[in-house]
Amino acid sequence: MAVMQKIRNIFLDAEFAEVEIPAPAAPTSYSLSTLTEKNLREVLSLNLRCFYQGENYTKLTFKHLLTEPNILSYQIITAERQMVGFIFIAVHNDKIGHITTIGVAPEHRNRGLAKLLLQHAEKALKTRGFDSVVLEVRVSNYIAQNLYHQLDYNIIQKLENYYTNKEDAYLMSKSL
Ligand SMILES: CC(C)(COP(=O)(O)OP(=O)(O)OC[C@H]1O[C@@H](n2cnc3c(N)ncnc32)[C@H](O)[C@@H]1OP(=O)(O)O)[C@@H](O)C(=O)NCCC(=O)NCCS
Repeated sequence: MAVMQKIRNIFLDAEFAEVEIPAPAAPTSYSLSTLTEKNLREVLSLNLRCFYQGENYTKLTFKHLLTEPNILSYQIITAERQMVGFIFIAVHNDKIGHITTIGVAPEHRNRGLAKLLLQHAEKALKTRGFDSVVLEVRVSNYIAQNLYHQLDYNIIQKLENYYTNKEDAYLMSKSL
């Protein structure tokens, strides 16, 4: 099934290619920890499974994010030591944190892992004295918008042609 989908995606325009929809993973336990440069390969492969072609960050971008001191980053790993979630937060501005990307492995979704990553990031920002947190989300990404609304993020602006394919973004914000 996954192979057929991959073959189909080769012939489809990248914008319409589908992300895999695997069966849910077997129940397991999860733990959260800080990311380091050593996690680059795993972050890259999880990123490819979370975002459509053209939306993904490059290896160079992740290398930068993992080594830049003004970026906080966390992962969720399973009891079997598999990385199944990540989040990166820029802390360049000393009052406003900026969530740059978040992703959860398809087979581990709908288990509260993104919520856990966001709540951990917010706590980390709060203890560092940050007032608020912002993020951008595609206007078409209803799942992520639901997640952010549920955690009390509000849309504060529409950013026209924000993404490389010209899709608009919502700028969302939350007071900490
Ligand atoms: C968006 C994403 C990170 C959510 O991860 P997740 O671990 O499945 O999310 P959670 O289980 O923590 O869900 C939290 C809330 O998100 C919303 N949500 C999650 N999956 C949803 C779905 N399939 N449909 C509608 N809302 C959904 C719900 O409000 C949910 O709360 P609920 O379970 O009480 O209803 C994940 O779908 C993903 O990696 N998507 C691809 C990458 C991406 O779009 N990242 C965001 C870029 S801005």
